[in-house]
Amino acid sequence: MALLPILTAPDPRLKTKAKPVDRVDDEIRRLMDDMLETMYDAPGIGLAAPQVGVSQRVLVIDTGKTEADRKPIRMANPEIVWVSEVDSSYEEGCLSVPSHYADVVRPAQVKVRYLDHQGEIREIETDGLLATVVQHEMDHLDGVLFIDRISSLKRNMILRKLVKSKKEEAAV
Ligand code: NI
Repeated sequence: MALLPILTAPDPRLKTKAKPVDRVDDEIRRLMDDMLETMYDAPGIGLAAPQVGVSQRVLVIDTGKTEADRKPIRMANPEIVWVSEVDSSYEEGCLSVPSHYADVVRPAQVKVRYLDHQGEIREIETDGLLATVVQHEMDHLDGVLFIDRISSLKRNMILRKLVKSKKEEAAV
């Protein structure tokens, strides 16, 4: 397994719609495992392939709080098949938008169909934090960041700060 570099906004690769996976093969399985390792190392609770520069519809999630209760979820080609009418709001962050957080409103529950790491079709019904994370990660596959779901005023403020910190890093 290997740690992959995580792209940060603004970056055009984070704004690109990812392509469906043709087949869940060893290459995809290795990508999923590398993404999990990268996510645990960051640390984060979700990571989508475009965040590591791979334009494929693959994501990983683990909302376990400690190493002991890790429950990794690996998804290829996830699709939302049902959403609740009730919304909920969570303060979201993102490994590609470091150090910034904002409340985002999304459906409180979603049902997602996807291919697991064996290429088997699976369906999960999610609520709470997992529902938020799965929708956040699926957004990445369509080139959407959580800051695209907040006011343009706040988004532009965050983007300006990110550009500034990238410039400062480049100058070091
Ligand atoms: Ni994210």
